[in-house]
Amino acid sequence: MKIAQKIVKLKDGRSATLKSASPDEAELVLQHLKISHKESYRNLNQGSAHWDTVSVEEESKFLADLEAGKNRFMIVAWVDGKIVGGLGLFSQAAEFVRHNATLGMSIQNAYSNSGLGTHLMNTALENAKQIGLRRIDLTVRTYNTAGIALYEKVGFQRIGLLKEIALIDGQYVDEYSYQLLLKD
Ligand SMILES: CC(C)(COP(=O)(O)OP(=O)(O)OC[C@H]1O[C@@H](n2cnc3c(N)ncnc32)[C@H](O)[C@@H]1OP(=O)(O)O)[C@@H](O)C(=O)NCCC(=O)NCCS
Repeated sequence: MKIAQKIVKLKDGRSATLKSASPDEAELVLQHLKISHKESYRNLNQGSAHWDTVSVEEESKFLADLEAGKNRFMIVAWVDGKIVGGLGLFSQAAEFVRHNATLGMSIQNAYSNSGLGTHLMNTALENAKQIGLRRIDLTVRTYNTAGIALYEKVGFQRIGLLKEIALIDGQYVDEYSYQLLLKD
């Protein structure tokens, strides 16, 4: 689905435009994913090389499918004429679990701790409520203090510890599991 475009202010006074990623922006979306995954592969679920294997056509089709879907979306953040952050919210298809969604997000290092994560998250939650989602899940590595601070700030509750769930730089690392129940 497409979400309404929004302009927000960062902590340093710059403006960011938040909007749906459209299929014709696939190349720029990929560029952001490559940069953020190279910088933050320790915190994310795809290795840094993964995005080099995705073509612009494949990404464009993925974004077109997202746009056509009813309860899934990707929001990208534009600052200084570039995409510097993104958040994806994906619900499941089967009717009995359609009210659940999983959330992932990434912001380039130069734009983190700027308030952008909070704006992206709040925009995602507003839209999630509007389309009737009731529950959002995510996991975060136990050492990702910025992610944990953001998720707890907006009300996610820690519900578990996933021991040794990921292998990063040759070491097994743990993740916390979080959920947010959206009130009517
Ligand atoms: C995690 C991430 C999304 C957070 O976004 P952000 O733009 O940095 O978040 P914000 O600037 O809105 O900060 C949110 C809160 O966390 C706090 N915070 C930011 N960085 C922090 C850190 N390193 N340690 C502790 N708290 C931190 C902020 O102070 C803020 O709280 P406040 O509003 O009370 O001041 C972003 O840093 C990121 O994408 N990192 C790399 C990829 C990643 O980790 N993705 C998430 C995977 S689960």
